[in-house]
Amino acid sequence: MNHEKVEKNIVLMAVLIALVISVGGFIQIVPLMAAGISKEPAPGVEPYSALRLAGRDVYVREGCYGCHSQMVRSLHEETLRYGSYSVAGEFVYDHPFQWGSKRTGPDLARVGGRYSDEWHRLHLINPRDLVPESNMPGYPWLAEKDLDEQEVQAMMRAMKRIGVPYTEEQIAAAPDEVSGKTKMDALIAYLQGLRPPQPQEVN
Ligand code: HEC
Repeated sequence: MNHEKVEKNIVLMAVLIALVISVGGFIQIVPLMAAGISKEPAPGVEPYSALRLAGRDVYVREGCYGCHSQMVRSLHEETLRYGSYSVAGEFVYDHPFQWGSKRTGPDLARVGGRYSDEWHRLHLINPRDLVPESNMPGYPWLAEKDLDEQEVQAMMRAMKRIGVPYTEEQIAAAPDEVSGKTKMDALIAYLQGLRPPQPQEVN
């Protein structure tokens, strides 16, 4: 029997597995390249401002993605809870993506504007002051650390090198934008800038 032959011949099996994965991969990836939709920013999506980019760096550094996803799936329960599902064009300036795969806490893709800045500040200092049953850790030290102006510029340059269209003027203006701001301010600006629910877009 043919099947038995494949099961007993590891080389043949490996070749066939590679073939199946390649065909599956091509079918998923090639149409996306041709359509180009994954590269077009969704309406209103712009490169992160200097302050928000610095906040995103704090988000990555502190490992917030270990408990929070940023990806609303196209399932009824998810859109009921969080709002419109995520589309590819929302992530064109995200390097690296913060989609995550673990939800100890809620998805944050649509958290922008849901709470006030003050709510976020208190919540980040000690989540249990606002949500008594929360098991999220507090990050009080972020309020005591100032941003490094040069580092923010370096981050923007690195992003530009991989395709984020920052202008030289934006990079030159970055130190002024972040001067006197703390890592907490930056993280809150990042969270508030995450996209609120939209009239559903099609991917
Ligand atoms: C150990 C897991 C854990 C980590 C790490 C964590 N969180 Fe949370 N987060 C939670 C849980 C659980 C909740 C829900 C309870 C609450 O609101 O505190 C939550 C809630 C939130 C909310 C409110 C969301 C909403 O829609 O109500 C925000 C905003 C948030 N977290 C941001 C962050 C940020 C920013 C970081 C990183 C600095 C972070 N979290 C790290 C577990 C975590």
